[in-house]
Amino acid sequence: MTMRAPLPQHDARLRFEHLPPLSLYVHLPWCVRKCPYCDFNSYEARGALPDFEYVDALVRDLRAELPLVQGRAVETIFFGGGTPSLFSGEAITRLLEAVRAELELAPDVEITLEANPGAVDTARFAAFRAAGVNRLSIGVQSFRAEQLRALGRVHGADEARAAVATARSAGFDNINVDLMYGLPNDEVDGAVADLEHALALAPTHLSWYQLTLEPNTAFERRPPSLPDDEVVARTEERGRALLAAEGYARYEISAYARPGRRCVHNLNYWEFGDYLGLGAGAHGKTTLAAAGEIARRAKTRNPRTYALRAGAADAATEERIGKPKQAALEFLMNALRLVDGASSDTFAARAGQPAEAVAAARAAGVARGWLTSEPDRLQATPLGLERLNRLLELFA
Ligand SMILES: C[S@@+](CC[C@H](N)C(=O)[O-])C[C@H]1O[C@@H](n2cnc3c(N)ncnc32)[C@H](O)[C@@H]1O
Ligand code: SF4
Repeated sequence: MTMRAPLPQHDARLRFEHLPPLSLYVHLPWCVRKCPYCDFNSYEARGALPDFEYVDALVRDLRAELPLVQGRAVETIFFGGGTPSLFSGEAITRLLEAVRAELELAPDVEITLEANPGAVDTARFAAFRAAGVNRLSIGVQSFRAEQLRALGRVHGADEARAAVATARSAGFDNINVDLMYGLPNDEVDGAVADLEHALALAPTHLSWYQLTLEPNTAFERRPPSLPDDEVVARTEERGRALLAAEGYARYEISAYARPGRRCVHNLNYWEFGDYLGLGAGAHGKTTLAAAGEIARRAKTRNPRTYALRAGAADAATEERIGKPKQAALEFLMNALRLVDGASSDTFAARAGQPAEAVAAARAAGVARGWLTSEPDRLQATPLGLERLNRLLELFA
């Protein structure tokens, strides 16, 4: 008689008692011009956008994904890009009507659309608002003419201000402004002045990103001269103090919000919630409770190929995460970006395992001063937020 191999001591399967909140990301991949620093899946629009054809593809894509999220309500929708504000009001209306026909939306659903100040039109903004979009995210980047030129932007500072005014007159009261710092040859005073200009527009939310040189961009091929670490550190120190004084609380590495105005969509990513990703190059993540797995799906990146394949069986690639260590690491890669981190209960519910599974790595993080010793929380200290990659290595 052969002996059976002993069962492993630990139960190496993910367990999910409840499903997390569900979001919907929709990628609209065209821009007026490709910015030299940008590695998003975006393409210069040549001629008229095939917006209705693309919307039809998105609807086929959505219908094919429905079995993954049967019976669940959508809490947030985010139109990202690319430059979604290049799409017509009619196209966005048609898409949102199709989404409402296929999926239940939460009564307080947050619907964000990204806009570029070089692609703003009053009637179009009003049509987005009428279609149900209730949050606009405007890519301003800088108010300095020489920086906007260096960044290859298609707009000036006045157009950025006008975009915010147009958004308000179209009925938007929830507006994010994207700004970047650490720009080519940047100085502390100039970067802080950019923030002051942005704050004078009184947005409800501000995303303040340090410029990074990304692979496969024009800036990677011909790097501009970037400020040194000390300039960046002093910019951050002064900028964060200014934002706090103006009532914008930092809640993630680059995100600052007025009370009650955090971006619910991005929070769902950072808290390891679920999301469907529709559109060229879009990614989705869904919890498969019965299988004890997390599915990650990605759509083909080329918009034309995407439009041809959308809805077909070969339109997406799928990876399944079933190993506790990988699920824990992916949870922490997101949640530790949040200033408040995540509770042990959220970890257990979303990473499918008890928080004790990462107790040893957590203790090592606390010992190094990278994690707080707050009971029942996984939370980076300010030093840990600065050294997030090294902190995450403890869990790898
Ligand atoms: C998809 S874009 C936003 C909307 C629109 N496409 C625009 O640029 O006006 C998202 C944001 O990411 C930021 N971003 C893009 N590339 C970046 C980089 N290399 N480093 C830092 N931030 C970057 C920019 O602030 C940009 O507004
Ligand atoms: S407009 Fe936005 S998405 Fe388009 S290339 Fe520039 S930064 Fe990237």
